[in-house]
Order: sequence, then structure tokens, then C-alpha cells
Amino acid sequence: MPAHIPPELITYLRRATHVVALTGAGISAESGVPTFRDAQSGLWAQYDPQELATAAAFRRNPALVWDWYEWRRSLVAQAAPNPGHRALAEMEQKVPHFTLVTQNVDGLHRQAGSRNVLELHGNIMRNKCFSEETVIAAGDEEPGDGAGPPRCPHCGDYLRPDVVWFGEALPEGELSAAMRAVEECQMLLCIGTSGLVHPAASLPLLAAERGALTVEINPQVTALSQWMDYVLRGPAGEVLPALLKATWTSE
Ligand code: OAD
Repeated sequence: MPAHIPPELITYLRRATHVVALTGAGISAESGVPTFRDAQSGLWAQYDPQELATAAAFRRNPALVWDWYEWRRSLVAQAAPNPGHRALAEMEQKVPHFTLVTQNVDGLHRQAGSRNVLELHGNIMRNKCFSEETVIAAGDEEPGDGAGPPRCPHCGDYLRPDVVWFGEALPEGELSAAMRAVEECQMLLCIGTSGLVHPAASLPLLAAERGALTVEINPQVTALSQWMDYVLRGPAGEVLPALLKATWTSE
């Protein structure tokens, strides 16, 4: 059973004109996409992220990094949006101004029908040139050398996934739009994120500072839990549909 939803939270959500949802890997867990830090199944359990998700690692061993992303892409390609993703897409239709800020690179929010999506960490299905950073459309890449990644059709350097690696800046336009939305919103839902990776993890704190109501949806305690106004303990795929139903079917 999902967590009990306090009636005042329902009233607040019903009246809010700008809501931000910040999502992390936990919302895609029920779609079969592994999270990063969950003990048994987390992506980092089998691999050292510093070995794989950095520009230095790519320079050292492009084929290894490329293969890891190919494996992750295959997981994402098999995944479909779950009731949590769909509830957020539906919420966007109910709230006058709804901004979805995600740390996920799997694209499942858009697949579920969300429109106003800011992808802070990029998208795993897209590639860009390692040196020029230009996005290269699927089919335009040059073949790689055997096991290595494909090559840029313009400069010949390797292609890499268009995701943010450790030590890299977030895409500026997305981050500033996310900050603006967070500063303006009346309510922030923080869903399925451990709250350990900044600057994304600072967004709920910024919202709280600006007077927004903050709500965490997560089956586990996180680094952000203590700062939240409300905590709904449970899987996003159950709590979000319950929140949607409680807020908009009893009006
Ligand atoms: P984490 O793996 O750190 O955290 C996943 C969170 O999801 C945990 O708090 C879980 O308790 C929670 N969770 C698990 N199942 C859930 C469910 N069914 N419903 C709701 N929550 C659930 O993933 P992130 O916080 O997204 O960055 O990690 C943040 C960033 O760290 C990632 O975007 C990635 C990584 O480094 C980059 O790759 C740049």
C-alpha cells in the first residue's frame, strides 16, 4: 500500500499554479532500468563509475566505456514508462504550469507523454562528438575501428554518449531553466533520487528557501528527507498515481 497522503497536501497541490517535479533513477526502477546506488542492483555495484563515466576513462579506454553505454542503452531500449512516469505526464495536464526536471538519461518521461521536460544529465540515446561536442544524428556517424566507438563524420574523432560525466558541467540552458522554475514554483516533488549528486540535489533546497512546499516520494530515507515538508514513503509507481487520483478525482 502506498503511503497515506495528508489531506492538506492534496488541497495545496490542487491549488498550485506552478509545480516542479525533480526525478532521479528511482522513478525508472519499476521500468527495469537499474538505479545508480541501490546496493544489489545498482549500476555502480558491478563497476567503478570513475572507470567508466569520465572523459579521462573514455580517453584511456574508449571501447570499454562505449560497451558499457551500449549495454545500458539496451536496458533502456527494452524499458517502457511505468505508472509513475504516466502519472507525472497526466499531472502536467492538470497543473497550469508544470516543469519536469530529470536527472535520468533514459527518455522515459517524454515517452510517457511529458512535454515540459528538462534533462539535466543529457540523453543516453543521443551521441555527440568527443572533441567538438556537436550532436550527431543516428545514421550520420562514420564506422569505428572494430570494437571502438563510431567516429564523427566531420572531424573523425570518436563519438560519445550525450550524457554528463563526472567532472563535467551540466547543460547551461537546462540548468538555468530548472533553477528559474524551482525559484518560481509553489511546490516541488522530489521523486526517486538519493540527493547525493549536485547541483541537481540542491534544487529541492533552493525551492524550500524560496518558500515552496517540498515533498519527497521515495521508499527509502535519503540525504534530502530531513529537509522536506512531507515525505511519502513508497514506490513512485504506486504513490504518484495515488496522489493524482486523490487530488483530481474528488474535486
Ligand atoms: P540513485 O541510484 O543515487 O538513487 C536512486 C533513488 O531511488 C534511491 O533514493 C532509492 O531509494 C530510490 N528508489 C528506488 N526504487 C524506487 C521506486 N520504485 N520509487 C521511487 N524511488 C525509488 O540515483 P539518482 O539519485 O538518480 O548522474 O542519482 C543521481 C545521479 O547520480 C545520476 O543522474 C547519475 C549518477 O551519478 C550522472 O550520471 C551524471
